Amino acid sequence: MSEAHSPSPAPHKRRVRYPGKNPRRFEDKYKEHGHDPETLAKVIAGGKTPVGTHRPIMVGEILAFIAPQPGDHAADCTLGYGGHAEEVLARIQPGGKLFGLDADPVELPKTEARLRALGFDEAVFTAHRSNFAGLPQVLAANGLTGVDMILADLGVSSMQIDDPARGFSVKLDGPLDMRMNPQRGQPASALLQKIAPAALAELLTANADEPNAATLAPILAGKSFTSTRPLAETIRAALPRLGKNDADLTVRRVFQALRITVNDEFSALETFLRNLPLCLKPGGRAAILTFHSGEDRRVKKAFANGQQDGTYSEIADDVIRPTPAEQHSNPRSAPAKLRWARRAK
Ligand SMILES: C[S@@+](CC[C@H](N)C(=O)[O-])C[C@H]1O[C@@H](n2cnc3c(N)ncnc32)[C@H](O)[C@@H]1O
Repeated sequence: MSEAHSPSPAPHKRRVRYPGKNPRRFEDKYKEHGHDPETLAKVIAGGKTPVGTHRPIMVGEILAFIAPQPGDHAADCTLGYGGHAEEVLARIQPGGKLFGLDADPVELPKTEARLRALGFDEAVFTAHRSNFAGLPQVLAANGLTGVDMILADLGVSSMQIDDPARGFSVKLDGPLDMRMNPQRGQPASALLQKIAPAALAELLTANADEPNAATLAPILAGKSFTSTRPLAETIRAALPRLGKNDADLTVRRVFQALRITVNDEFSALETFLRNLPLCLKPGGRAAILTFHSGEDRRVKKAFANGQQDGTYSEIADDVIRPTPAEQHSNPRSAPAKLRWARRAK
């Protein structure tokens, strides 16, 4: 081949640089994405969660109650990053097995790969892309009717919140989506575009106890928001008398209410709570972490009813909260409430 026809060498691509010392954009936090241990430790020491990870909450309190033993079968119904699962897996060997469920098809394969890399093979850990309402079916498909312990850590993971492309973030602009499984249902943008003001007001009250529901609903319902930032800005502009903190809280509550509807979270939780005792062996333990009153109310009621009718032999007397030290080191743990129940023998 003559020199005139030889292909020109590929241009040397420089790594994209971000301005300043600390990157602000999710995509630019390549050191955190790369899970460089030194960077992760620094981010955690600063009270933050490195992007692409999740810090498990109240691990000690949960393990103390569910008391995993070698040979036990466990179901983590909200696998997320696998932080709780990893701790349980380490304690149920040899002979135990953990079934990890999550509705999110984006993060689940990453977590499966992470736990495999830690040495948990198919014999001890399997990952299931399933809503936790389908726990009985997952167990039945694996030849089981009940397990020794069930864990649920409700809501969204840090990986989901921090990735603007998922549309959960109140801080970063991204498509107004909010689906845990982006392959099913409708994004939050479609919900807002179709909903009538009265229905939106009801949803804001029922899902987030939003005190400004009546003011916000006619302003937001029927509107076309393609991304999260214009929605957040419209909410703030609709309530000009609110101070910054109250306005931030309002934005969070509206996002929470939309997320709950888009993912049909309360009906999934109610089905899960109904199935829960049937999926536990006699004497089996369940621990549930909730993050707002709509979730906690449902768990509290299901456990109290179960104790009254003898399904549960014992339930937590009261909610258990993260210690002040945990809340300080991981601010995302602050709203968490833990309740537990033991199935009667
Ligand atoms: C708070 S995170 C769990 C974090 C996890 N405990 C850890 O230590 O990494 C909640 C997870 O539950 C999943 N999830 C929420 N609702 C669900 C449902 N109804 N069925 C299955 N997974 C669900 C979310 O996709 C998310 O990954």
